[in-house]
Amino acid sequence: MLEVSLIMVKPHAFATKRMGTIISMLENNNFHIIGMKSIKLTLELARKFYFVHEGKEFFERLIKYMSSGTVAAICVEKNDCVAELRKLIGATDPSKAAEGTIRRVCGTTVGKNAVHASDSIENANKEVRFFFSDIELYSYRFIQY
Ligand code: RTP
Ligand code: MG
Repeated sequence: MLEVSLIMVKPHAFATKRMGTIISMLENNNFHIIGMKSIKLTLELARKFYFVHEGKEFFERLIKYMSSGTVAAICVEKNDCVAELRKLIGATDPSKAAEGTIRRVCGTTVGKNAVHASDSIENANKEVRFFFSDIELYSYRFIQY
């Protein structure tokens, strides 16, 4: 089924110029980019985005980090997109992520693991709406070349 998902390039990956590599990896794996923007999150926005982790030991560290620099939000579309994107980004810890995954290639530590990706269809729809309005997205299925 055609789905959308949200991938966010984390501050360290953005600052160290891994955007080109990450976008290439998405395109080479047949994800259609249907929305993209860079943004500096405030602490409050990061807290809202990651609210499911509130109360966890790493929460404050995570939201501080996510609001420490520019991030890029990318909305992608593909069949089975949510699961396929999780597969492409790899395990949370880059040292345990499979060869050829984005986190293996661009991440360094659990904290600086290069990217976030939605973990369910429901969360993907919410996370896409967090960053994008209707006029900023246009499904690839309607684009004819
Ligand atoms: P994400 O949400 O960023 O895509 O990552 P994930 O699903 O693979 O992992 P999750 O459990 O949702 O954790 C969210 C992010 O929090 C940081 N984290 N730090 N023990 C720790 O220090 C720790 N555990 C998780 C990671 O950066 C992870 O991506
Ligand atoms: Mg997660």
